[in-house]
Amino acid sequence: MAEGDSALMQSARERAAATPLDRFHVADVSHFTSDTWGPWFERLRREDPVHYCADSEYGPYWSVTRFNDIVAVDSNHEAFSSSSERGGIAIQDGYQPNALSSFIGLDPPDHDAQRRVVMPRFSTQGLAGLEPLIRSRAAAILDELPVGETFDFVDRVSVELTSQMLATLFDFPFEARRLLPQASDIILAPTGEGAEFRTNEDRQAALTPYFETFVGLWESRKGGAGDDLLSLLASDPVTRKDGQMFGYMGNVVLLTVAGSDTTRHSITGALLAFQDNPDAYDRLRADPALLDSAVPEIIRWQSPVAHMRRTATRDVELGGKTIRKGDKVIMWYVSGNRDGEVIADPDRFVIDRTRPRQHVAFGFGIHRCVGNRLAEMQLKVVWEEILRRFRRIEVVAPPRRLNSNFVKGYETLPVRILP
Ligand code: HEM
Repeated sequence: MAEGDSALMQSARERAAATPLDRFHVADVSHFTSDTWGPWFERLRREDPVHYCADSEYGPYWSVTRFNDIVAVDSNHEAFSSSSERGGIAIQDGYQPNALSSFIGLDPPDHDAQRRVVMPRFSTQGLAGLEPLIRSRAAAILDELPVGETFDFVDRVSVELTSQMLATLFDFPFEARRLLPQASDIILAPTGEGAEFRTNEDRQAALTPYFETFVGLWESRKGGAGDDLLSLLASDPVTRKDGQMFGYMGNVVLLTVAGSDTTRHSITGALLAFQDNPDAYDRLRADPALLDSAVPEIIRWQSPVAHMRRTATRDVELGGKTIRKGDKVIMWYVSGNRDGEVIADPDRFVIDRTRPRQHVAFGFGIHRCVGNRLAEMQLKVVWEEILRRFRRIEVVAPPRRLNSNFVKGYETLPVRILP
């Protein structure tokens, strides 16, 4: 099951080598559901690193595939806008379920003002109290797992842990915590003929219980007594303009998706990486301090956010190409994180890299992930607790992968804990 070994991957290599570059459409979701995106991006990085796809179901788009070009785009928010009014942050225009404003889809100065509202919760001080709680909750989840029986690692471990973390950050009713990943799945589900939701309105309707719960919580938090994320958003004048929910709901949606999906898929991705690299698992069991470098490597390896999109605000030169004002520009983090010009031996999972944080999985510039330290802390704690308990967790069947070119992750992963 090692990456690159399958017949599917072999066929993708042959097709990626034979297809003319002007027919490349790397955003085709099938590259991600089959996990065969590697050779397509590898050829673009080598031969046409800033590539134009003239026609696709998302319209025309540029692909930025090399590490340094991604950093250049991500750092230049004046030329490359995140604004949801220009189309937003994903290749599919207007990913947000409605016109809700959140700071990931804003440019300065509004972005900076709203981001500042939630920052205290993610500071060193803000996170300090959280680690023991995350550890005790992780321990409780792991102690309940059946040994010797097949179960779904995604549901029992990855989703459960991240739901608990998010419920804690929001001070959300603990017994209703599964509403959070459910909402995230609905928000990210594609719409259109044959998709789970035909229209955005259908999707909106499915989110009603989630929105109703958060409206109720707004009422009880607008006094701002707590230090949870909802109290911060409900009470700060920036996100509570004129006493209204202005920036509250949009940012609740943002945090629900950003906080539940990414970490969840990194926890699962780590298990798959260990399945293919059992020696890495054994080394970590012998020396858990290695997790300090293994955790960022897990995040690079998984790259759970496959891409972020920008829209050019003016004509810009990049990699010898002219990107025109209004063009859609996709930064493929998944590709930048395999760029051998910057990362040595990028197709190997190496738990003791000297510069493990040299990756673009958290983005770069003003939108760089707000939750990066929280995500690392959570991954470290959960793997410390797993390594301490289990000699091996065996993957018994391949994962079912998400039908998405935006979030790179897993729906299910059947596993068994070896007694
Ligand atoms: C933004 C990745 C975990 C909250 C982002 C971006 C990426 C990312 C790529 C966009 C960066 C850019 O445009 O330059 C990840 C990964 C995670 C993770 C790989 C886990 C392994 C989290 C967690 C939270 C979170 C746990 C919160 C609970 C956010 C927020 C933003 C963001 C609020 C928007 C920041 C802004 O626009 O200023 N994340 N994320 N993320 N992330 Fe994360």
